[in-house]
Amino acid sequence: MEEQQEIYAMPRINDDAPAFTAETTQGTINFPSDYKGKWVILFSHPADFTPVCTSEFMTFASMQDEFKALNTELVGLSVDGLYSHIAWLRTINEKIEYKGMKNVEVTFPLIEDITMNVAKKYGMIMPGESSTKAVRAVFVIDPVGKIRTIIYYPLSMGRNFDELKRVVIALQTADAFNIATPADWRPGDDVIVPTAGSCGTAKTRMEGKEGEMKCYDWFFCTKPLAEEKVYKAIKK
Ligand code: BEZ
Repeated sequence: MEEQQEIYAMPRINDDAPAFTAETTQGTINFPSDYKGKWVILFSHPADFTPVCTSEFMTFASMQDEFKALNTELVGLSVDGLYSHIAWLRTINEKIEYKGMKNVEVTFPLIEDITMNVAKKYGMIMPGESSTKAVRAVFVIDPVGKIRTIIYYPLSMGRNFDELKRVVIALQTADAFNIATPADWRPGDDVIVPTAGSCGTAKTRMEGKEGEMKCYDWFFCTKPLAEEKVYKAIKK
């Protein structure tokens, strides 16, 4: 007989972030209520004491202040227990020197999820990849607890943390200026003026001032948005 695969829930963009209470390396957290008013990156990794995950934690922890400046908190998760988390983070801090990073302290909470309660709620277990480990999932959650971006990576691939920062900045900029961001957008690049009926709830082009707008066709218009303006609007 064919083996039946367990079906796991998959939250979707614009859903409310599923609520949970969990033990972490920084104490108990009630998610997402403890983070009301802040952006959060909730991310999972497959296992403590593994190389790709170690490189990721060192990189993310080294960028924590950059995320804090964007009113963004980091919360990690794996299906390991608290003592494993603590021992691994201590090893990273005391022993690992990698790409110029040394004595890295991970001060953001790392959730213990031995029961896979949280991992299953967030669709972090993908049995085709592994039924005993979480994949590298990333959920960007906004200050009212809505999921705004979801990205998944397989076990073998370390994430690009500059891209995750770009995602947070792009979401915050879209909210602050009612615009959308084109491919590979970075602060200082032109932004997209949404046409009627496109780009979610952003105001339509017809309602906006058309000042320095450049149109490539009727459905594709951009306008400049200075880098200073972006950072003034979104930086804490
Ligand atoms: C790693 O982080 O190196 C890793 C973890 C699980 C499977 C494969 C690689």
